[in-house]
Amino acid sequence: MSFDAPAVIKTKRDGGRLTDAEIDWVIDAYTRGRVAEEQMAALLMAIFLRGMDYRETVRWTTAMVSSGDRLDLRGLRRAGHPLATVDKHSTGGVGDKITLTVVPVVAACGAAVPQAAGRGLGHTGGTLDKLESIAGFTAHLPNEHVRQQLCTVGAAIFAAGQLAPADAKLYALRDITGTVESLPLIASSVMSKKLAEGAGALVLDVKVGSGALIKSVAQCRELAHTMTRLGAAHGLRTRALLTDMNRPLGGAAGNAVEVAEALEVLAGGGPPDVVELTLRLAAEMLELAGVDDRDPAQSLRDGTAMDRFRALVTAQGGDLSAPLPIGACSETVTAARGGTMGDIDAMAIGLTVWRLGAGRSRPGERVQPGAGIRIHRRPGEPVAAGERLFTLYTDTPERFPAAMSALDGGWRVVDTPPRPQPLILDRMTS
Ligand code: URA
Repeated sequence: MSFDAPAVIKTKRDGGRLTDAEIDWVIDAYTRGRVAEEQMAALLMAIFLRGMDYRETVRWTTAMVSSGDRLDLRGLRRAGHPLATVDKHSTGGVGDKITLTVVPVVAACGAAVPQAAGRGLGHTGGTLDKLESIAGFTAHLPNEHVRQQLCTVGAAIFAAGQLAPADAKLYALRDITGTVESLPLIASSVMSKKLAEGAGALVLDVKVGSGALIKSVAQCRELAHTMTRLGAAHGLRTRALLTDMNRPLGGAAGNAVEVAEALEVLAGGGPPDVVELTLRLAAEMLELAGVDDRDPAQSLRDGTAMDRFRALVTAQGGDLSAPLPIGACSETVTAARGGTMGDIDAMAIGLTVWRLGAGRSRPGERVQPGAGIRIHRRPGEPVAAGERLFTLYTDTPERFPAAMSALDGGWRVVDTPPRPQPLILDRMTS
């Protein structure tokens, strides 16, 4: 059945509900290039303003899954044993390099992780942009390569490609039309990729706070509820953690700087919050996958998680022996006085890093692998007058003034240490 794009747009603009047939048509026609970018942009804005109910969201998600291939991961085996598959997905944060650490931990513990990952969206970083800062790394894997790599390495992190291709187009369009922060659009975007990739179970990391796409706890609960329900409706065991994103995760945000920090965690060190979230998500993933005889923390101590990460990078063409890139130019921020580092605002750090060139301002733009920030003093740590607090890196120094003004006001040295904040705020199942 064929529809008229302006009529579909007007229905949503005027607060109506889209029919199943309208949704199927508009997603299919847009994916094939028969609905213009301007028309989809208008429809996305109408959805952003008017919302979609649960029925529309289910159908929108299903139509996105149907826009491309579905990986068939049934019957995967390693050394003659069946492999359970499980994945995780974060709704996006600042300094969120957890995919780089949790995927090899879970693989080292015996489950297989097919991870269709994304690129940066708005001020939030993208796993693929980070991994592509490793020399030679490719995120473009044919479906059969993913299957094989799951059997040999136990994990693959790849661009969704032909899995839910409607999402890739919509994701890029939302990024430049101010329509990212919509609950039904986020839920359908995340779940379409995850349903198409065919894992047996899924753990969602729903970020809450200033540096998250959705700032309020109540709205994040609703988002988590919608996504776990969508998973259950498609037979995918899904669980969600709500986790704090008022502060950036760890001590580095950007592309290669986050890979370097992930390597520290895999070597048994790294910032405590990154380690805590890695282990908690790994435990949830392993439980959901039914693999409960291995301790995720042990895989960090004994190097088996690091071995999995190295094997994954090598299988995807990457060379970890080459030095990770770092911006050619740097600027430091030093403390004007002594005291304690107060709260650091995740949004300020996200914008700083984006303005340094780690994210995109136009679709398809090349990101700078070496752009990023190192945070030398984290909330609650003592600060001496004159000490280095932040180092900013970029290849294009003309970006420094805008980056510095984003950072300004996003942190303070205080007399009374800020109250410790819990990292995990809630846990939800379908
Ligand atoms: N992650 C996604 O995959 N999609 C969104 O819309 C937001 C975060």
